[in-house]
Amino acid sequence: MYTTNYSSIMEFSKEDIQKEAERLFEKLKKVDWTLEKCEEIAPLTLEINQLKKEKNAVILAHSYQPPEIMYGIADHLGDSYGLSIKAKETDADIIVFCSVHFMAETARILNPTKEVRVPSKASCSLAESITQKDIKKLREEYSNAGVICYVNTTAEVKAECDACCTSSNALKIIEGMPQNEIIFVPDEFMCANLQQLTKKKLICWKGRCIVHEEFGGDTIRQIKDMYPEAKILVHSECAPNVVKESDLMGSTTDILNYVFDSDAKQFMLVTECGITDRVKAEFKEKEVLGSCILCPYMKEITLEGVLSCLKSPSTDQIIDLPEDIINRAKKSLDKMVEIVENNNN
Ligand code: 13P
Ligand code: SF4
Repeated sequence: MYTTNYSSIMEFSKEDIQKEAERLFEKLKKVDWTLEKCEEIAPLTLEINQLKKEKNAVILAHSYQPPEIMYGIADHLGDSYGLSIKAKETDADIIVFCSVHFMAETARILNPTKEVRVPSKASCSLAESITQKDIKKLREEYSNAGVICYVNTTAEVKAECDACCTSSNALKIIEGMPQNEIIFVPDEFMCANLQQLTKKKLICWKGRCIVHEEFGGDTIRQIKDMYPEAKILVHSECAPNVVKESDLMGSTTDILNYVFDSDAKQFMLVTECGITDRVKAEFKEKEVLGSCILCPYMKEITLEGVLSCLKSPSTDQIIDLPEDIINRAKKSLDKMVEIVENNNN
């Protein structure tokens, strides 16, 4: 049962609440929500959606967000790259970023004239694994190497790098850099996976995602033995022995696109549970096999948090970065966008 201490200051009629609960139920029943549970959150989603209009705010939500965020209030769902582009292009005055903190920082850097707010200052084990100082040391040690940081890093770390990348474009960025030796931080598994795909020499860091490091090759082989027709879709933060068993390695959106395009009926989604929720909610004829793992950071975001940051944000809920960091981090993000766009043309 969804528990909320929320009491609305806005008055909604019984009919409005019922209508909203039915709207929510249409999507959320596919991820096992009851109408009763939808009725409970209906006043909250109504108030958030109304405030969003009044304040000209846009809500961007990562695909690992809880279903009530994705289907109750979000304007756009996506992976880190897709949401960065939405943030860069939006006309809204306020961006409410439902995800981990580094993605909201990225939005602020890419669109510094907008106010970016977060419901909760949610971290990420990868972003925590490396500092600005670590990058400076690596640069001293490998002075001829280019430096690429995965987007799952703080703005300070991005400011020290030559280019940023996301799971949807990491290989393109490596190949698009002028150097043959690349320091790739902070995900050690993603780095090892990319090393299999490029002739360039990659120097890896030792960061890991606490969700994706939990998956093992054995469970995947068991599923493959039981369901030989099933497609195994793996996020690139997984270990190489897991990727070896897969039909696709990619970003969260790559995984969803594969499900959408594929004629297969059964899929094992080797990633966070939000993707399982999206497949259940959006592709009803597809069956998801095996189990997923929750990201505790992504799941810190709640409807109450969104409402409070829309109504009267605390200082922690507003992304504030020094101008110098914005300018330097922007160069590495712009480099990523430039390489991706050149590749698309
Ligand atoms: P995506 O860019 O693939 O959505 O990945 C973000 C992330 O944090 C995966 O753990
Ligand atoms: Fe970070 Fe892993 Fe959570 Fe993604 S799933 S936000 S990489 S801890």
